[in-house]
Amino acid sequence: MSFNFISAAEAASLVKHGYNIGLSGFTPAGTPKAVTAEIAKIAEEEHAKGNPFQIGIFTGASTGDSCDGVLSRVKAIRYRAPYTTNKDFRTAVNNGEIAYNDIHLSQMAQEVRYGFMGKVNVAIIEACEVTADGKIYLTAAGGIAPTVCRLADQIIVELNSAHSKNMMGMHDVYEPLDPPYRREIPIYKPSDRIGLPYIQVDPKKIIGVVEVNKPDEARSFADADPLTDKIGQNVADFLAADMKRGVIPSTFLPLQSGVGNIANAVLGALGRDKTIPAFEMYTEVIQDSVIALMREGRIKFGSTCSLTVTNDCLQGIYDDIDFFRDKLILRPSEISNNPEVVRRLGLISINTAIEADIYGNINSTHIGGTKMMNGIGGSGDFTRNAFISIFTCPSVAKDGKISSIVPMVSHQDHSEHSVNILITEQGVADLRGKSPVERAQAIIENCAHPDYKEILWDYMKLSGKGQTPHCVQAALGMHAALNRTGDMKNVNWADFAK
Ligand code: COA
Repeated sequence: MSFNFISAAEAASLVKHGYNIGLSGFTPAGTPKAVTAEIAKIAEEEHAKGNPFQIGIFTGASTGDSCDGVLSRVKAIRYRAPYTTNKDFRTAVNNGEIAYNDIHLSQMAQEVRYGFMGKVNVAIIEACEVTADGKIYLTAAGGIAPTVCRLADQIIVELNSAHSKNMMGMHDVYEPLDPPYRREIPIYKPSDRIGLPYIQVDPKKIIGVVEVNKPDEARSFADADPLTDKIGQNVADFLAADMKRGVIPSTFLPLQSGVGNIANAVLGALGRDKTIPAFEMYTEVIQDSVIALMREGRIKFGSTCSLTVTNDCLQGIYDDIDFFRDKLILRPSEISNNPEVVRRLGLISINTAIEADIYGNINSTHIGGTKMMNGIGGSGDFTRNAFISIFTCPSVAKDGKISSIVPMVSHQDHSEHSVNILITEQGVADLRGKSPVERAQAIIENCAHPDYKEILWDYMKLSGKGQTPHCVQAALGMHAALNRTGDMKNVNWADFAK
């Protein structure tokens, strides 16, 4: 069969008001860019005519500006799941304009399959190749593409020549059966292949192929600074010590590391520490730092959902594909983040917190308890199931007016039951095997900023006795002081003792 080659505008016109679209990609990597931008133009025109035009968006994780950005600016998104990092989307969500369902990334594909979010009308899939018999070869990410391709009534392929066909063969496409027929996912080491290098679809469902040449919209990160370097070094020193005392096997364990500057600094420090052997990653995003460490031989293998790298770095991978072919594998998000596999492989997970409380509960998503930052992403998938779960954050934010260590988190994403280690630039709190009170002592002593230590000790005195001591009326007192005066240090515990 031959494909119907159409323009992005023609493809966008096939998406109607009220539709749910399912997208390839995970982060801006591998996300379609042309058709979504044209959908935004249609929405703008329809709104100008006084007509409603809004859609639901199902993705693997965040997208680029040509999806979440343009669509939220023209108010074309009714519903979206899961994670996103776009500033305009965030503003719209916090203004109550978009229904945002922030679920664990490993659950996204299966919840779409279970029918929790409604029908997938159209799948829009970025590919580096599509064949007449319906084989779609993905680009820089796995995401939920296999599931939305299977469930959608219609498929639009964005055939993007900015991605090399060298990507063919790098993916491992595997979709589990749903209960009660699901079997174990047979991944016993990060490099195991269990599926196909392409998504097989019924070619009749491909209603159009849009040829584009648009590079990915991945951000580059700021250079490491002394603060992130110190956090990274603390993580590396902690892991080296745990290996030396035999808690972590001498072969080391596969690592999951989040996205951003702290993650880059952590990987840099791990790469430099030659007491840690060359290691593997089983993770959801691979950034430039991982590729550099692979070239140096410090990282042996990377299983990931996406290559969230700069375009220069991606081109370097395509150019050196013979080097990377047996060192990288890209998986759908429900496999890269799968709790069963994470627990079996014994991952060391490293993620970033917005705030942590003295007992080890973590807020990853909400500023001040109410405003969405990005979302939980894959942090819950990994944290709950890791061999060792680590959270990092600077001890203070906003020039010291905010302590990242508080008596009680203002929103909770990860509970004290799942968090093993907390690391700031001040030091390391090892929470394993400790009671809540022992955890509080370790966190205040080792992780809190000196400006806030006494304030937190004083809160402990106010809290009295209990399995998890709290003075409930004062537990969010530091947040209240921030709201009232602009500085958490202005909390006065005496106000609550009365
Ligand atoms: N209270 C209020 N604001 C805070 C804060 C706190 N305790 N801690 C940080 N902030 C603010 C920062 O000042 C910054 O504000 P700005 O945008 O006005 O500059 C903002 O929150 C982001 O902080 P920053 O230090 O730049 O964050 P980051 O880029 O390291 O990202 C997370 C931190 C938590 C937002 C990010 O890691 C995330 O989205 N995590 C959840 C998803 C995840 O873990 N995925 C798993 C693997 S990819």
